[in-house]
Amino acid sequence: MKIYVMEDYQKLSAKAAQIVSSQVTLKNNTVLGLATGSTPEGMYQKLIEMYDAGSIDFSEVTTFNLDEYLGLDPDHPQSYHYYMHHKFFNYVNIPSQNIHIPPGQENNTAETCHNYEQKIVNAGGIDLQILGIGVNGHIGFNEPAKYLNTQTHVVNLSAETISANSRFFSKESEVPRQAITMGMGSIMQAQKVILLASGKSKAEAIKETVNGKITTEVPASFLQLHHEFILIADKEAAAYI
Ligand code: PGA
Repeated sequence: MKIYVMEDYQKLSAKAAQIVSSQVTLKNNTVLGLATGSTPEGMYQKLIEMYDAGSIDFSEVTTFNLDEYLGLDPDHPQSYHYYMHHKFFNYVNIPSQNIHIPPGQENNTAETCHNYEQKIVNAGGIDLQILGIGVNGHIGFNEPAKYLNTQTHVVNLSAETISANSRFFSKESEVPRQAITMGMGSIMQAQKVILLASGKSKAEAIKETVNGKITTEVPASFLQLHHEFILIADKEAAAYI
């Protein structure tokens, strides 16, 4: 495990963008695993700036997003399809056929999940996975539970996640109750994993992730077992480690 504690959110975002950029420079057909949420926004912004400056080329890159709500149209402003296009994909040159986001229709079947997993395998697996972390220690939408799923699956969102994400919706009742997410195995099989954490609301989850026991009640704690796990946290998120 490698830990970078950065002065502030801007520096955290710059560090993450620099690692992504080095990865894409070293291997131009890199397969990136991407995350949504407020934390990676700054990283996407920096990557767009690098692209505009001509210092990074995404033309051979393939992407797989971690998760999507069920029941929101792809053009719903809170869907992760919308987020990714409006915060990143529309501004860089990743070919549209190389972009993958789990489908958010409500009637997702085991086959839909299996197909998503198969696409990752067919692409050669994920080289670099970006993650955020929930206040409850979730990664993707792998919520604290007695058992965790290894592969892409449909999940019921926890009350904590619904409450945390309600800030993006006009009221809590609008937050979808279910999502599709890559599983713990899909994440752990990535060659390299970068977890981004910002703000004091994440400090407890980061302490458990880094120093706590490995438990399904803190899904991120499994990252302790990953051979190339990098945590980039700002001072507030790193306060208890
Ligand atoms: P956030 O979400 O970046 O908006 O805090 C992270 C997560 O819930 O995984």
